[in-house]
Amino acid sequence: MQIDTLGDWKRTHDCGALRAGDAGREVVLMGWVHVRRDLGHLIFIDLRDREGITQVVFDPQVDEAVHERAHVLRSEWVVAVRGETAPRLEGQENPDMATGAVEVRAKELKILNRTEIPPFQVAGAVDASETLRLKHRYLELRRPRVFRRFRERHRIAACVRDYLNNEGFLEVETPFLTKSTPEGARDYLVPSRVNQGLFYALPQSPQLFKQLLMVSGFDRYYQIVRCFRDEDLRADRQPEFTQVDLEMSFADEEAVMALHEGMMAALYGTVHGKELTLPFPRLTFREAMDRFGTDRPDTRFGLEIHDLTGPAARSEFRVFRQVIDGGGVVKAVTVAAGAGGFSRKDLDELGASAAEWGAKGLAWAKVTEGGWQSPIKKFFPEGLQEEMNRAAGAGPGDLLLLVSDRDETALYVLGMLRLHLARRLGLVKDDEPSFVWVTEFPLLEHDEEGRLAAVHHPFTSPMEEDLPRLADEPEAVRARAYDLVLNGSEIGGGSVRIHTRELQDEMFRVLGITTEEAEAKFGFFLEALRYGAPPHAGMALGFDRLVAVMTGAESIREVIAFPKTQRATCPLTGAPSRVDERQLEELGLSVHLEE
Ligand code: AMO
Ligand code: AMP
Repeated sequence: MQIDTLGDWKRTHDCGALRAGDAGREVVLMGWVHVRRDLGHLIFIDLRDREGITQVVFDPQVDEAVHERAHVLRSEWVVAVRGETAPRLEGQENPDMATGAVEVRAKELKILNRTEIPPFQVAGAVDASETLRLKHRYLELRRPRVFRRFRERHRIAACVRDYLNNEGFLEVETPFLTKSTPEGARDYLVPSRVNQGLFYALPQSPQLFKQLLMVSGFDRYYQIVRCFRDEDLRADRQPEFTQVDLEMSFADEEAVMALHEGMMAALYGTVHGKELTLPFPRLTFREAMDRFGTDRPDTRFGLEIHDLTGPAARSEFRVFRQVIDGGGVVKAVTVAAGAGGFSRKDLDELGASAAEWGAKGLAWAKVTEGGWQSPIKKFFPEGLQEEMNRAAGAGPGDLLLLVSDRDETALYVLGMLRLHLARRLGLVKDDEPSFVWVTEFPLLEHDEEGRLAAVHHPFTSPMEEDLPRLADEPEAVRARAYDLVLNGSEIGGGSVRIHTRELQDEMFRVLGITTEEAEAKFGFFLEALRYGAPPHAGMALGFDRLVAVMTGAESIREVIAFPKTQRATCPLTGAPSRVDERQLEELGLSVHLEE
């Protein structure tokens, strides 16, 4: 089989370009054979490149030798075709294809490369396992519907850069080989050869460097930057991911939030031709938890959580009363017009899901004109049923779902339940982006060992009005931090930073971090704070998550060209992998594996 060279052939068009008006034009197309149909007397191929697909026909009446040679073509061979654009025969047009009005009648064919049988069909449906598709990711990326997201990712990134450049932001690169940064995940470490026994940490974010740039007077910094975190992976988490990271001087939370609202409006306007309503609604952390059971509420649908502890405490239902006596609560979600749509079996299944999320039970009541229909009806006199209905915003025809537990558990379970119900009832409208800011996060929380730890990082400023409580009641102090949530996904977060040495020292004291510890970890940064740090604030968007939402992807893996598996491996390259004994020796390392 002869493989041809390009010679002096030049492409005249891409494979998505030709329209009815191009009929009669002589063209040169190059690409991959997407599918072929060999009818014997006529051979059709769909020729594909990243821009689209064009039908090419080999007809012996046009050129017998070229037609003869085209018999060998198979899917994914790389070819170049010279021919004439012609309208398709009447009835053969394909309105679903941009080029569906025309075909190219081939006069010359170059076979630029052939292929071994690919491990899965590029043109086919998603049939192979994810591991196989990731192993041959370059083939999967050929699929038009997979590629589409990368074109969109590129447009979104370009639009972000345009927007920030216009707003006076400077793109500055910060080190990857650095010291541990304070985002709270595990670090990826890199051993130093020149300084044996010492390690760099890959940055979990450029947090400290961007703050240093503010001390330097850079005023407005941004970077579309890779971050590295060794944490448990999920559909929306990768060990390396991209942030749109920025920081601004002499600015407060309002400035940062307004900037991001403008950025989102520019993105949706440019990329989706959609106008957003500004400003975005805001919820405090407490409100978000109480109404949606999570700090990243999906506000595209109702199903909000209601507190029924008051009336429930007056019922005869022992389960509820015991929980309430122990400091617990009764919370409920109302499914509008849900009384008819849920069978006993459906309700049992919901109960089983609730148990998986940690509930001790899931009580239900169908509201009718004549009172409740419910296994716990007898514990609620009619007047109390009405009070419960009112508290839950329920009327005849609605379904009440109740959980009694510790506050956090009840909220978590109902938060999960509302997402589950929304999917099941088809309440989620994907075409309407729903943004919400969550503000007033707690500054501190207790970690697993019961020690106070920063919720975000220890450089986040407390709210001024809460400062007096920092010493005695640190858990009650709120942070000047904000998260941006889009369709129930946390797509970004940031804060106003501490910029005085005094407050920073106070923070470390409250966190129980000794001066020596702070010095060893962040000494370089604390020193910088001494030399005239301006007030500053910033934020980072999870760029992969933003692109995933904007392109309708299920997982951020679909918008990352070469993603890792849930086990943080790369089936394509085989990373992580063993290294030579010699490399280890140079680094002064040896590997001891537990059996
Ligand atoms: P934070 O840790 O909240 O803030 O990260 C910002 C955003 O990055 C995204 N994100 C991730 N995306 C994919 N995979 C991951 N493993 C992952 N982890 C986080 C989320 C998140 O909202 N330095 C601060 C920002 C600041 O204060 O300026 C920071 O990194 O969408
Ligand atoms: P029981 O009287 O224990 O059979 O419970 C009656 C109903 O109350 C069942 O539907 C249980 O699922 C429900 N239930 C039990 N414990 C709780 C709880 N902590 N919160 C909500 N419902 C509960």
